[in-house]
Amino acid sequence: MKVFEANITPSVIDFFENSISLSVEDFNSEIESICGINFFFETPSELKELIDTVSNERAVVNEPDRAEYGDFQTNRNLSDKVCHLLKNQNTAPEIIIEPTCGKGNFILSCLHTFDDVKFIYGVEIYKPYVWETKFAILDYYLKSKNSHLPEIHIYHYNVFDFDFKKISEKHKDQKILVIGNPPWVTNSKLSSLGSDNLPVKSNFKNHNGLDAITGKGNFDIGEYISVKLISTFSKSDGNFAFLVKNSVSKNILLEQNKIKYRISNIKQFDIDAKIEFNVSVNACLLLCALNKRPGMSISEYNIYTKRLIREYGWVNNKFVANIDLYLKSEDLDGEFPFVWRQGVKHDASKIMELENINGQYFNNNKETVEIEKDLVFALLKSSDLKGAVIDNSRKYTIITQKKVGQETKYIRELYPKTYYYLFNNIEYFNKRKSSIYKGKPVFSIFGIGDYSFKPYKVAIAGMYKTTTFSLVKPIINKPAMLDDTCYFIGFDTLIEAEITRFLLNKEGTQEFIQSIAFKDAKRMITKDLLMRINLHEIISHTNFDELQLGIADIKIKDWENYKAKLTKKEFERNQQLNIFTEHALHTS
Ligand SMILES: C[S@@+](CC[C@H](N)C(=O)[O-])C[C@H]1O[C@@H](n2cnc3c(N)ncnc32)[C@H](O)[C@@H]1O
Repeated sequence: MKVFEANITPSVIDFFENSISLSVEDFNSEIESICGINFFFETPSELKELIDTVSNERAVVNEPDRAEYGDFQTNRNLSDKVCHLLKNQNTAPEIIIEPTCGKGNFILSCLHTFDDVKFIYGVEIYKPYVWETKFAILDYYLKSKNSHLPEIHIYHYNVFDFDFKKISEKHKDQKILVIGNPPWVTNSKLSSLGSDNLPVKSNFKNHNGLDAITGKGNFDIGEYISVKLISTFSKSDGNFAFLVKNSVSKNILLEQNKIKYRISNIKQFDIDAKIEFNVSVNACLLLCALNKRPGMSISEYNIYTKRLIREYGWVNNKFVANIDLYLKSEDLDGEFPFVWRQGVKHDASKIMELENINGQYFNNNKETVEIEKDLVFALLKSSDLKGAVIDNSRKYTIITQKKVGQETKYIRELYPKTYYYLFNNIEYFNKRKSSIYKGKPVFSIFGIGDYSFKPYKVAIAGMYKTTTFSLVKPIINKPAMLDDTCYFIGFDTLIEAEITRFLLNKEGTQEFIQSIAFKDAKRMITKDLLMRINLHEIISHTNFDELQLGIADIKIKDWENYKAKLTKKEFERNQQLNIFTEHALHTS
C-alpha cells in the first residue's frame, strides 16, 4: 500500500491504526522514542491525511516520470554490501549524512551495520521518498525494539540549498560518514528536459563558452554533489562513500592536481550497473578518507570479487589510466609532431551519407540519388577501421566544402544535380541543432581542410576499445574521408604513412597508449591522448631492421628521409606542424 505516494509496510500501518487517538505532538514523541526520528509529522494535517488514507486503503498511485531527478534507488543488497565493505575497513561512524536519501536504503543499511551512530541526517527533494524513508525506519524499529537509537533527521529539502556546513560545525570532532547515491543525470540532459534541478552555479568548473559548446562544460549532478560534500567535510575525520558513474570519480581525480581535495586512500569499487540499476553505464562505489593529505591516485577494484584491477591517476603531473604500465613507457609521453585531425561532421546523415549499389547511389532514406560524382568521396567510420590497410568502403559522403566556412553557393553552378539534391532536402540542414552551424553557409560541414584531401592517412577509431592504427589508401582514385568518430593524419606519400603506422603500432607505443587510455570513457581515443605520443622518442628506439620486417620494400633512404624530417630542429622551423605538406610543395 502507498501513503503520500510512499510504500508503507503492514507493521507501520498497524502501528498507526492502533494509535489513532493520539495528537500530533504525542505521535511525534512516541515515534521519536521508538526510532529516533525528529518531527515525524511537520503539521497536524499530515497526520490527518495519513490516518484518512490508511483507513480508506487508498489505491496505488502511479509513480511520475522522475528522469530529471536521476532517480536510481539503490537496492538493499547493494547498500548492505557497501556498509559491510566499510565496516571491514574499520569504518565506525558516529554521524551519517545521506544528502539525497531517496527511499532510505543506505540509512537502513547503516542502522543495521554500524553500532556507534549518534546522529543521522537524510535529505531528499521528493516528498513521497521522505515518507518512505521515515516509514522504513519506523518499520525497522518496530521490528527490532532493542536496537541502538540515534537521533534521526530526514529533511524534505533541495540538496543544492541545504546547509551542510551547520552539520560539519556541530559535529566537528566526531567521525563522519557521508554516504549515498546522488542523482545520475547531467546538466545537459537537465536542460534538454527543461529542468532546473541544478545548482545555482551550474558552471562550477568555470569552463569558458567554447568548452560549453564542445561538451567540456557538461557535468554530472552527482559530481557536483560529491565535490560539494567533500569540500564541506574536508576538515572532518571520517569517510566518503558514494555510488557514482566511473566518469565522476575520474573527473574528481582529474581536478585533484589543481584543487587538491583533502581526500586520500581513494578507492573505486566497480559495480555492475546493469544488474544493480538496469542501466548501461560504468558505475562504482567511490570511497575515500576525509581530512587527509590529498591523494593523487585511485585504486580500482571489482566490488564482487575485491580483485584489484589497476591504479590510475597522477604521475609526475601527468594523468594516466594505468600507473604500472605507464611507469614502463613514461619516456613516450611527450608531444606528437603532427596535428591529429577529427573526421568530417555534417549531422545530416540521412542525406549526406550514400551507399553505392550496382553503380546507383542511395541515401539513408533509401531514396535513389542522381548527382555528379565530383563531390562524392568514400567515407569510413570507426567500425570500418578494422584491418591494417583499408582500401574500400561501404559508404560515401558528399563533401560540400574544402575548408570550414567556405561558401556553398558554388555547387549550384558547377554541380547542378548535387545542388538540386541538397536543396530539395534543405530541411535536414536547417534543422541541425548544434550551434556550430549557426551563421554558416547552409550546406556546411565541419572537420574539413587541406589535410582531408591527403591521399594517404593513418587513422584510428575514437569510439572503439582498440588502440591499433590503420593505413587508409585512396578509394576509387580519391582520398577517403573519415567521419568525426575517427582521428587521422594525412600524408602525401605512401611510405611516410606506412612508417608512421608501423611506429604507432609497435609494442612499446601500444603499451604507452594503453597506459593513458581510459577504456570506460565513451570516446576512449581522443585528440589530447594522441597528441601526447612522442614520435621522436619512438624513432630513437627503432632500427631499420625492425622496419624491414614490417614494411615490404622499404629502403634505408626512406627511413633516413623520414627521420630527417622529424628532427627537433625541423619541427621547430615548421611552426605550422605540417612539414609533410610543405615538403610536397617544394618538391612538386
Ligand atoms: C540515484 S537516486 C538515489 C537515492 C538513494 N540515495 C539511494 O541510494 O537509494 C537519487 C536521489 O536523489 C534525489 N534528488 C534528485 N535531485 C535532488 C535534489 N535537488 N535535492 C535532493 N534530492 C534530490 C532523487 O529524488 C533520488 O531519490
